[in-house]
Amino acid sequence: MYNKKKYLLVFTATILLLISYSFVKTNQVETSPRNARALYLQYCASCHGENLDRFAARKWVYGNSVKDVSSTLKNGRPAIGMPEFGKAMTDDEIQALAVYTIEKVAQVPAVVPSTFDVKHIIHSLDLTFRLEEVASGKLKIPWGMAFLPNGDMLVTEKAGQLYQVSKGVMTAIEGVPNVVVRGQGGLLEVAVHPQFKKNNFIYLAYAEGENANALNTSIGRGELRNGKITNFKRIMQAMPATSSGVHFGCRIVFDKNGYLFFSIGERGKKENAQDLTNHCGKIHRIKDDGSIPADNPFVNTPNAIKSIWSYGHRNPQGLYYDKKTDVIWENEHGPKGGDELNIIKKGANYGWPVISFGINYDGTVLTPDTAKVGMEAPKHYWIPSIGPSSLTKVTSSRYPGWEGDFLSGSLSFEYLERSIMKNNRVISSEKLLHKIGRVRNVVQAPDGYIYVAVENPGKVYKIVPVTK
Ligand code: HEC
Repeated sequence: MYNKKKYLLVFTATILLLISYSFVKTNQVETSPRNARALYLQYCASCHGENLDRFAARKWVYGNSVKDVSSTLKNGRPAIGMPEFGKAMTDDEIQALAVYTIEKVAQVPAVVPSTFDVKHIIHSLDLTFRLEEVASGKLKIPWGMAFLPNGDMLVTEKAGQLYQVSKGVMTAIEGVPNVVVRGQGGLLEVAVHPQFKKNNFIYLAYAEGENANALNTSIGRGELRNGKITNFKRIMQAMPATSSGVHFGCRIVFDKNGYLFFSIGERGKKENAQDLTNHCGKIHRIKDDGSIPADNPFVNTPNAIKSIWSYGHRNPQGLYYDKKTDVIWENEHGPKGGDELNIIKKGANYGWPVISFGINYDGTVLTPDTAKVGMEAPKHYWIPSIGPSSLTKVTSSRYPGWEGDFLSGSLSFEYLERSIMKNNRVISSEKLLHKIGRVRNVVQAPDGYIYVAVENPGKVYKIVPVTK
């Protein structure tokens, strides 16, 4: 009897063990996509979205077989800005992640609806406001925004169109130059000359090249009258032309003396940023016709590009000129972590890629140094990367509570970052409009209102304070 009981016990235990083993086994098959999910969140989500939503309406450039995508992940695709992960994952992991990516992308809807309710009254720490939509419709990626003296807004669509928005009506402007749309390149910034009333000059920054494999950023100037650009001329062309599809810059600001400052990214080749013989990874200063001011810092340096004002930048996409203090502020994309907010000084070196608070996308060390003599430290840095697209300062009295603070568009986390400032330092921050979509631009207009451009679907909103 006792033996029989013992036998039964051993028997039951064995069965239980077998069941749990098979459970673990089947579970293991099921966890392999979960492993891929974990890898995805660790390495990919910051650029492609947590739910792969930035693969929406996907046209594969390099094919979507498991073999193609595995190769994309392993070796990267520099031409379109996709980093390599061969060192971060085993071949098996890469393959599992490729399978996961292909399966999930097939399920992503063409346009991912935002979960943000734009009709809400929004309570920030120091201000209550609502959003008013001022432009939408034809926009997908509204990149640049500028304002004419009559209050009309100019807005670029990265795919190559320029629109004028007048009292809510959006009209396409004629005479826009041909641009190359590739990777992060396309029609980028638009700026209005400080003396527009007299000369009708507007400026455009755009990707241009002999062909799609030899590209860089150009800036051109034309005269805008009655919805049409005439006498458009390129006044600056960044060199060298390259097949890279990333880090074009490019924001434009004028200072009080009428000098034009613009930023160019290092075009995916980090060594460019420390090399004064090319345009890439620099902030430049030119006159309004493209000629070089005699007091630029490197005019007497042999072989240096004469328009360079500062160097050692990665991809500066936010530029703000503070009239009151005569200071230029900039923000730029770091790699994985290490996005920076800087004060731009004449002739200064901002250190990329010698110093950085960031690491490589695959998690490996980029540089052990975050500071070095002769290199400028950022005023603030972001870890993790917010992906700063733009920069403006709140100086208008319309936003009491925000006055003196900086706003940066966040592409990665889809919100507007408010950097709360005191004595030129970021003392705190606040996330505004969280999950509204990739915030491509933020500008305080001459009317004192702040305008925010969001991607896919492209919209421009005005921030309207609500008083109790
Ligand atoms: C630094 C940002 C960044 C990170 C991190 C990143 N990618 Fe990409 N990836 C890009 C860009 C930019 C493109 C080109 C634009 C596009 O296709 O969306 C791209 C394209 C791709 C493509 C399409 C290639 C084709 O043939 O069209 C795949 C697949 C891909 N990425 C998968 C991944 C996966 C999986 C990871 C994580 C291991 C990852 N990416 C991490 C930026 C990134």
